[in-house]
Amino acid sequence: MDTELLKQTANFLVSPGRGILAADESNGTMTKRLEGVGVSSSPESRNAYRANLFAMPTMADAISGVILYDETIRQTAVDGTSIPDFLHGIDVLPGIKVDTGAKPLAGYENETVTEGLDGLRERCAEYFAMGARFAKWRAVIRIDDGLPSDACISANAHALARYAAICQEQGLVPIIEPEVLMEGDHSSQLCFEVTSTVLDATWAACETQGVFLPGALLKPNMILPGKSHPQRSNVETCAKMTIDLLHNHVPSEIPGIVFLSGGQTEVEATAHLNAMNNMGPHPFELSYSYGRALQASTLKTWAKNQDNLSVAHSVFAHRCQMAHLARFGNWSEDLEA
Ligand code: 13P
Repeated sequence: MDTELLKQTANFLVSPGRGILAADESNGTMTKRLEGVGVSSSPESRNAYRANLFAMPTMADAISGVILYDETIRQTAVDGTSIPDFLHGIDVLPGIKVDTGAKPLAGYENETVTEGLDGLRERCAEYFAMGARFAKWRAVIRIDDGLPSDACISANAHALARYAAICQEQGLVPIIEPEVLMEGDHSSQLCFEVTSTVLDATWAACETQGVFLPGALLKPNMILPGKSHPQRSNVETCAKMTIDLLHNHVPSEIPGIVFLSGGQTEVEATAHLNAMNNMGPHPFELSYSYGRALQASTLKTWAKNQDNLSVAHSVFAHRCQMAHLARFGNWSEDLEA
């Protein structure tokens, strides 16, 4: 294991003012997103949207890495180079989603285990050769009556740890993503308790598998009530509870936390990160690996203005700038106007 390379990559990904763009939607998810804005989904339309996104001139000021999907890492940028070469050329690291999706967990209704360990070593080696320097694997944990089960937590923790160990052996920094979903009517307190248990199990599995923590990043959910819970939490409460979680359930060797947005609006996800960075100091960088919270308004704008790409670029530039400011706690709501 090249621990120096892993540490260097992980630290680069969470360097000041920068974070990760999650653009690794599977073809199924990307088809829903494109059809949602009236664009039919094909390899060509997915490439057109994403190649344009990555060509936004100031992207690298706020984005240190982009997570790609297998289809995208093999596609072409606006200048005709490969997408990974294009990203390296603008000082942005290409990453790759390597899990093959959340599949039903045998014997446990409504729960999943994320798959993709078979052949992972060979796939990681191929992606590294193509230029990828980090990877992502997303475990999905659902809160409901009696859920999550211990079986779901331990199967996913084991898979995350095995994935992380294989990635590191192949020179890729693993993003460890155990996502506790926002779906449901649970309270913030229950979200906190379940997320704590899931993180503790994940670190225990990582220790057993020999994962090198200074060369890994954590991608957690923030602590929020379920979407159907009658009460919304305010920004301060979400930030305090999430910080409490991280300070007590994340080893300080982890160099950075890169949050998922998980269905929060663009402004909510920005406000929460901003508030947390104002509550420092923290033992790790607090950054982003947002999908929808960096892309939602840009995708809508692009769909309507495909003949004038600068319109979508200005919307994406704004979201990037807001996220960049939130890394320092310098964002405020009036900047959104
Ligand atoms: P969202 O920020 O849209 O939740 O996506 C992040 C991600 O990569 C989920 O795996």
